[in-house]
Amino acid sequence: MNVDDLHPALRTFVYGATQILLTEASEELFLPRVGELMRALVSYDNWLDPACAQNHPSFYQQYLLYADPSDRLSVVSFVWGPGQSTPIHDHTVWGVIGMLRGSEYAQQYDVGVGGRPNPIGHELRLMPGDVEYVSPHLGDVHQVRNAYSDRVSISIHAYGGNIGKIKRHVFAADTGNVKEFISGYATPVN
Ligand code: FE2
Repeated sequence: MNVDDLHPALRTFVYGATQILLTEASEELFLPRVGELMRALVSYDNWLDPACAQNHPSFYQQYLLYADPSDRLSVVSFVWGPGQSTPIHDHTVWGVIGMLRGSEYAQQYDVGVGGRPNPIGHELRLMPGDVEYVSPHLGDVHQVRNAYSDRVSISIHAYGGNIGKIKRHVFAADTGNVKEFISGYATPVN
């Protein structure tokens, strides 16, 4: 995956985020800076390849837009079909989420003894241009859904690893049952 082949807007994000991660080791300090780059990236909805913006009738889709060769950074388009939602899940690495198109709701959870997830506060609604964070330090467990039942929504996610290859977890809301999963990536539709 050659960074020179990316759309200039995405390339600016990748170069900027890579530079920040090379020079700043503290998550507390680099995360807001990557967040500002994400805010700039999603302030215009004119750069995402339509092949990575296609929804699936049954499943939300995650298309890989960029992964650095050493798996320190990946960027994904997260495409919601109408009414689609994730299970309650974690990430195990930091993530920055920018709302590009449409809108989504995110509910954060605290995982108690025995794996049972308890909601923290109310659902947060992201609108185009908004940026949100996850990480094992800040709160890593959430459930996310398309705010719309009649249209596609798309958010752009950057993660501190190759998220499609990372072993992480889903949590059953009722039983507290924890299952390991690897999300993989959808194949772009040309
Ligand atoms: Fe997530």
